[in-house]
Amino acid sequence: MNIGILGTGIVGRTLAMRLVELSHAVILGTRDPQKTLAETASDLPMHTWLQQNPKVILGTFADAAAHGEIVINATNGNGSLNALRAAGEAKLNSKTLLDISNPLDFSKGMPPTLFVSNTDSLAEQIQREFPNVKVVKTLNTVTASLMVHPRQLANGTHSVFISGNDAAAKAKVSDLLHSFGWEDIIDLGDISTARGVEMYLPIWLRLWGALGTGLLNVRVVR
Ligand SMILES: NC(=O)c1ccc[n+]([C@@H]2O[C@H](COP(=O)([O-])OP(=O)(O)OC[C@H]3O[C@@H](n4cnc5c(N)ncnc54)[C@H](OP(=O)(O)O)[C@@H]3O)[C@@H](O)[C@H]2O)c1
Repeated sequence: MNIGILGTGIVGRTLAMRLVELSHAVILGTRDPQKTLAETASDLPMHTWLQQNPKVILGTFADAAAHGEIVINATNGNGSLNALRAAGEAKLNSKTLLDISNPLDFSKGMPPTLFVSNTDSLAEQIQREFPNVKVVKTLNTVTASLMVHPRQLANGTHSVFISGNDAAAKAKVSDLLHSFGWEDIIDLGDISTARGVEMYLPIWLRLWGALGTGLLNVRVVR
């Protein structure tokens, strides 16, 4: 399948590597490909990472959105609406948008707060601005490596959540999650249920601090 990923951080890169391994064709989107390629300050600059992952193509957010049958939002929560606007409504319309972003506000230091919560969510803000896009919130409650390799922890017997208004889009995303190795995929309901998984982040951050690892998750027992 053609998949477009918006976001070049650890989440975008981790997903791109796994999707290519599963034989999908991936374009990774960034604001300015030339600028992203020229960056040398990080531990693993994009140009080096692309040499290590030659099947992944770097493009603009619009290139990634145009390419994807499924488009993945792996941008910083503060920039997600901007990134989607840059991708372009026409290129996103009628597509499934797998939204992993979290509405974290680090402006007052650690731990971050949520810039939207309780009566609204970032996923709903995205859905309202792009009414013809099928937004499906998932994977935002686990660290990047666990998103794509859930079986590395507790034999994969832990839970992931899914929220969205469109049943077919949720089925498509569930298929992708199954292909990563997820088994316990809990459909919470419509896109407003993304409030719950976004508001889970304060607990996740405290677990991370208490346990000293981000390789953690919850299993919902019934
Ligand atoms: N890290 C994790 O393990 C994890 C786990 C669960 C959920 N998440 C969520 O997944 C998302 C991605 O996280 P991450 O750690 O991989 O990367 P990140 O540093 O949060 O985001 C990097 C991406 O956001 C884009 N971006 C930042 N500000 C922007 C703006 N104003 N306008 C447009 N685009 C902007 C950057 O674009 P450029 O490429 O142009 O710089 C880059 O592609 C976040 O929402 C995060 O909360 C992360």
